[in-house]
Amino acid sequence: MLPPIPVLADYGISPTHGFLPDVLPLTRLPDPYYNKWEAIVANLQALILSKRLRGVIDRLPVLSTIGLEHDAEWRRAYVLLCFMAHGYIWGGDSPSERLPASISIPLLQVSEHLEVPPVATYAAVCLWNFKPLFMDEDVDNLENLATLTTFTGSLDESWFYLVSVAMEARGAPIIPLMLTAIAAAREDDAPTVARCLHAFAERLDDLTALLGRLHESCDPHIFYHRIRPFLAGSKNMAEAGLPNGVLYEDESGNGTFRQYAGGSNAQSSLIQFFDIVLGIEHRPTGDKGPSRPEAEREGRGPAPKHNFIMEMRRYMPGPHARFLSDVQAVANIRDYVELNRDNRELCVAYDACLSMLRALRDKHIAIVTRYIVLPSREVRARSRSPEATRRKVNLATASRRQPQGMAFDADGDAGGKKGANLKGTGGTALISFLKQARDETGEPAIEEWTKRFMSRAPRTEGQGDFFAGKADEGAGLQVQGQTEEVSVPGLAGTWTMDDEVGGICNY
Ligand code: HEM
Repeated sequence: MLPPIPVLADYGISPTHGFLPDVLPLTRLPDPYYNKWEAIVANLQALILSKRLRGVIDRLPVLSTIGLEHDAEWRRAYVLLCFMAHGYIWGGDSPSERLPASISIPLLQVSEHLEVPPVATYAAVCLWNFKPLFMDEDVDNLENLATLTTFTGSLDESWFYLVSVAMEARGAPIIPLMLTAIAAAREDDAPTVARCLHAFAERLDDLTALLGRLHESCDPHIFYHRIRPFLAGSKNMAEAGLPNGVLYEDESGNGTFRQYAGGSNAQSSLIQFFDIVLGIEHRPTGDKGPSRPEAEREGRGPAPKHNFIMEMRRYMPGPHARFLSDVQAVANIRDYVELNRDNRELCVAYDACLSMLRALRDKHIAIVTRYIVLPSREVRARSRSPEATRRKVNLATASRRQPQGMAFDADGDAGGKKGANLKGTGGTALISFLKQARDETGEPAIEEWTKRFMSRAPRTEGQGDFFAGKADEGAGLQVQGQTEEVSVPGLAGTWTMDDEVGGICNY
């Protein structure tokens, strides 16, 4: 007996808006009891700028969550508390190791209710933090979107979040569509499966176009230096000033130190849904061989093995993460296409989806290069200048250095040994990780031509970026006679600088 195909309503997923809530995010909490929270967040940028946010939050009473009724209210409370928490932690000259009870107590309760971690996740800053400008127009259109809350008040920050919101909305119809495809594959209805795959491929192309609009209103330097630091987490942040993470205080002023990854689009359930439904597998970074024993058929496909990608599921709203595991148990499209290799239309439609998803990842790699790798390289170059050694570095924005030999792979393994999970993703080269995820996307291709096309070796000449200069020889950096590996702060993870990084045009 095959497991039932998941029903969207059981997971709070909208057939039209996907992982965005069906009820629009509230612009404020209706109960005036929460006016103090609303007032702080309405003035968040000014309070951060004047460095008065911490003082205000220190004097804030602990409000009860008893007045929160509908889920939309709980979600609004989560957004407010996450913005206040990250503003408090990162909005000073040095990060705060403690989160006062006025934030931590309600944040822990709201997080438990919504099944999300008590930290600014993708749900807090994107999924539950937008409004349409015109109610009668769709939210899959960037020209009809506004954010509710930002740390900086900048257009760049709003645009960064809104590109993701528009992608979630534009990609949403793919979810019911591909559940229909799964049901059709069970019925051996190849024309329906092919039709769904065609529509899927076209939508993926739309998503790449949306992603490509990021640069229109989000400046890479503003992103890197002003926005990203507020999204930082508390895990692997020793060098940023949080060796133990953050103390979530209880009423007595004691509490527990907690460590969480920062907010990242890697926490988008939509992109993971695409991988799952197409049968794409992500292996730990560096693991080259495609693995797919014949025995693994419908409903028994192996779980994704990439630990970072799996870890990101813990940062998704609980019902969305459960949906992904349940879809995993019924994902049959790859097997169905493989069993129908003689059906040209079906195979071409399936390959088109892989190709479009690969193109999306390609575009993403170019963005990460432009928004993370190049600015971090500039920070690094400046930090080597003589005057920089005299200057105080804002640790939240600086690239970190760690002695070589202390690199950890994506599974948190030091030197390949299990059980030494100290640095999380630190030690995994960022672009290598993203490129491997991209290349794995093309692996299931059926048609010989598509396979060849998608496994083309990337261009190797001309790797120096015209403006940013040549990449350094290797990731190692000689400091005081000792070789160091340079860490690049990503969003959710900390990564090393890839030696083959060569600018934005080489992928
Ligand atoms: C300025 C824009 C962006 C930057 C700088 C950026 C950066 C990153 C970084 C550094 C990672 C590695 C994991 C981490 O440290 O968090 C990552 C992973 C990822 N990002 Fe982005 N990202 C951006 C926009 C987006 C958008 C709009 C999406 C799509 C919704 C997206 C989807 C993903 C996914 C799915 C991963 C996991 C790796 C994969 O599946 O290929 N990113 N991103």
